Amino acid sequence: MIKLDSVSKTFGTGVTGLDDITFAVEKGEFVFLVGPTGAGKSTLFRLMIRDVLPTKGSILIGDYDVVKLPSHKIPHLRKKVGVVFQDLKLLLDRTIHENISLPLQVAGLTSSEAMKKVDEIMKQVGILEHRDKFPIQLSGGELQRTAIARALILSPDILLADSAYFIS
Ligand SMILES: Nc1ncnc2c1ncn2[C@@H]1O[C@H](COP(=O)(O)OP(=O)(O)O)[C@@H](O)[C@H]1O
Ligand SMILES: [Mg+2]
Repeated sequence: MIKLDSVSKTFGTGVTGLDDITFAVEKGEFVFLVGPTGAGKSTLFRLMIRDVLPTKGSILIGDYDVVKLPSHKIPHLRKKVGVVFQDLKLLLDRTIHENISLPLQVAGLTSSEAMKKVDEIMKQVGILEHRDKFPIQLSGGELQRTAIARALILSPDILLADSAYFIS
């Protein structure tokens, strides 16, 4: 389902983020990727959602050939891949409920049924009581749960979680 073949990424600065990475992850597998700061973990995630292009190599995510994917299909890929970013990327001027519903709104799904799903997922990750609060009012772990809920709201096939302190 995820297949990287000889992937390298050298940034414009000349820094090599990744050097010749090959691996595959099958459907249903749960994989941990560990490595020191600067090893290339975040770069790998950015490559998998076409946030950056590799210098060489191929990246297959489900049915998507990520490197060859035309730009207008990038949103399709990103619907299939939920991401919890290392810095969470929550919007500080939106409530927790609004943050989690954002991907639904971007996808044009704003029916009351879709909004019910936001409450369901908040309940699942244990933050329903914080529904109408703002990010600054929550603990670190609660914010991580918010980011996880947002990553899951479109029922992606793949969840990528990039974090140095994921257990809370
Ligand atoms: N946008 C960028 N421009 C230049 N160098 C970068 C960029 N992003 C990451 N790097 C460099 O690539 C290497 C891998 O970074 P990164 O993937 O963020 O590591 P990790 O997430 O494992 O800590 C580091 O040396 C980092 O400084
Ligand atoms: Mg990182």
